Order: sequence, then structure tokens, then C-alpha cells
Amino acid sequence: MLTELLSQADAFVATFSRPLKNCRWTKAVVSARRESGLWRLRIECFTERQSFTEPSGEPQGDLDHALAHLTCESFRQILVQTPDQDHHILRAFKGGGVRQTVNHLPPTRSSWEHLASDRVKQRALSPEHDAAFLYHMDLATSDGRIKASMADKFRQVNHLLGQIASSEQRAASSEQRTASSEFVVVDAGCGKAYLSLSLVYVLERMGRAVRLIGIDSNPNVIDHCRRVAREMGFRNAEFFVGSISEVGKRLAVPHCDMLIALHACNTATDDALELALRLEADVIMVAPCCHHEVQQQLQKERVPEWARPLLDDGITKERLGDLLTDTMRRDILRWKGYDAHLEEFISLEHTQKNILLKAFRQPNATNTQHWRSHVESMIVAWGVHSALWSRVCNS
Ligand SMILES: C[S@@+](CC[C@H](N)C(=O)[O-])C[C@H]1O[C@@H](n2cnc3c(N)ncnc32)[C@H](O)[C@@H]1O
Repeated sequence: MLTELLSQADAFVATFSRPLKNCRWTKAVVSARRESGLWRLRIECFTERQSFTEPSGEPQGDLDHALAHLTCESFRQILVQTPDQDHHILRAFKGGGVRQTVNHLPPTRSSWEHLASDRVKQRALSPEHDAAFLYHMDLATSDGRIKASMADKFRQVNHLLGQIASSEQRAASSEQRTASSEFVVVDAGCGKAYLSLSLVYVLERMGRAVRLIGIDSNPNVIDHCRRVAREMGFRNAEFFVGSISEVGKRLAVPHCDMLIALHACNTATDDALELALRLEADVIMVAPCCHHEVQQQLQKERVPEWARPLLDDGITKERLGDLLTDTMRRDILRWKGYDAHLEEFISLEHTQKNILLKAFRQPNATNTQHWRSHVESMIVAWGVHSALWSRVCNS
């Protein structure tokens, strides 16, 4: 029904709202405009705390396909605005079926300019404008198409660059930033440094001086990073082979604006956080990877009786281990004076490892000791140790 209504329009905005309980999103908005017979679409999906945007790079013809995953979600109301008319669709879900009623009303939207355009929310990197860089990074082919195998990585990098752009504003306004114009980024467990090299590229394009320090124990990825930095002319990017903790001990930087660690394996994330604390990083962006350390310690005989059912199945034990690990990491950062939060940075379909621990240093933070007590209570209650806790308490 939706596509029938839209077949005559050259532009529309469809707002999906009033979800049933099982719906993944609280709201979704599709903006679309027809260009030379093809649709250019922009899809925004919202959860309680997050929004995920998918601006289409190229106009595409298949409107049905683009709308399919939203129309099958359980939204009870869809408002479709076109230049000529508004359509209010009410959907009643009963006995496994859906009954829809439609009201056609005069149009309420007046502005149709820039609809679905990337200008509304510009992607940091695009195959159209950044083909050479994306090619050097192994994210795109020589003719500028994102490699199918790298599509998820490209999406993650773009989402994170968006997050960093707003965090960078907070770092930029901190006391240290006024002392030096150089933006210092440390990438711990950098791998091929997809995110941090992209960050250097984007910030330098904006005229910012950036210094990047990448650390990884794998010499092959460090060779790759050095080659890309050379090819791109990033003279202020250094890469070190070694463990985060060993290289971190020797690292001397006047200040650290941002420490990032994307999917650094198991307790390498804790090494990265310990380094961030030692360097007093203004902003910390960490997407944890596999969590084995706490999971392996969770034993039925060590937890209270009421919590034992959580350890019955592998998957609940695994998720519980993840949650405990990241919650303790977050609260240790809070104890150390950071405004720290855990959030999803991209939808689960693009990566299972979609949690982002984001923290901002608050030099004048007071009354943070209760966070220390929280962590201690969790350690006692669950009978586990935390790698970060041990490192921070022993340093
Ligand atoms: C899953 S990869 C992620 C790479 C990169 N951050 C990304 O997101 O594309 C994890 C990287 O961390 C590195 N690594 C794991 N443990 C490390 C440690 N303790 N010290 C330094 N590097 C480590 C690995 O060599 C690997 O390159």
C-alpha cells in the first residue's frame, strides 16, 4: 500500500511511529526524492538513545526493497508527507494480521529542498569524494567502489567518525587544547588503523594538525599502516610494533586528546584503558572485542543463588560476562573522574561487537569514590576479578 501511495510522488517523507513492543526501533524516518526516475533515499532509525542513518550514496530504483524492512516492523502509525498530500496510515495488529486505514489530508510540509541529500548529515568519507584514500586503505577498489568484504568496516568507520566529530569538539574545548594546536590521537591495537588513519585524513582535510600514534603487536599491520601514511603524506603518523602496555610505558606525549581502541582483543582493551588513564586522555573511545577474562571466571558456586540461572546456558553466561566486564570498565573510568557511558554505535546487523565505551575527562570531577565502591561490590558479588581494576589499583 505504501509504495502504491508513493508511486505518483517525486518526493516524500515517511515517519514510522508508535511501535509495538517487539519493534527494534522507537521511530524511523525515510526521506526520498526521485532523480531521473530513480529514488535517492535517506533512512534514519531511532532507538531510545541512538539514531542510525543510512544515506544512500547513489540513487537507487528499488523503493520496495528500501521500505520492506520498515513496513514489516510493527509500527502502528505511518505519516507519509508528499508535496501534494499527507497520508495518515493507522495499522491495527490483531491475530497475526494487520488492518490498515488511510486518511488523505492536505499537505503540511513546505520544504522539499535538499531532501535525502547527504548535505543534511554529511558522511565523513564517501566513495565519490575520497576514492584515492579509500583505495590506499584497502577499503575500495581502484575504481572507487567499496569492496563488498569491507562494507561493514566502511560503515563502522563512518559512524565512528561521526561520533568522534562531536567528541572532538569537547576535546578541543578542554584546557590542554588551548596550549597546543596539535590534536594527538593514540590508537591502541590499531590493526590496519582504518579508523585512526581516516580520522587523520578527515581532520587534516579540515585544516587541523594531527599527530597519530598507532600501536599493534602484529608487525604486518604496522607495515601496512606505515605504507598508507607514507602514500597519503601523513608525516605526523607514527606506528609502533609491540604490546599496548609495553609501548605505552615508553610513550611520551605532551598530552593526549583522544585514545581509541577498536576491538582490541580481550584484555588488550584494559591495557588501552590503563594507557588512556596514564596519559590522561581527554576523550576515550573504546569498542571492546571478545571478553574472555570475566566470562571464564564466572562459576555457579561463586555467585549468589538467585544469580545461578544466568550461568545455565553458554549464551547467557557469555552476555553476562560481557556486561559485567564493560560495566566495571565504565565505572572504573567514572571513579577516575571521567564522564563515561556505554552505548551502541552501529546496529547489530553490521557487527556483533557494537558497544562503544565513550568517556570524557572531567578535570574537576569530585565525589567519584562511590564508583570505586560500586566496582568493589560487583567484584565481590560475582566472584570475579577485573584486569583493569587490578592494573589501576596496582599502579
Ligand atoms: C580485531 S583487531 C582490530 C584492529 C583495528 N583496531 C580495527 O578495528 O580494525 C585487534 C588488533 O589488536 C592487536 N592486539 C591484540 N592484543 C594486543 C596487545 N596486547 N597489544 C597490541 N596489540 C594488540 C591485534 O594484533 C590486532 O591487530
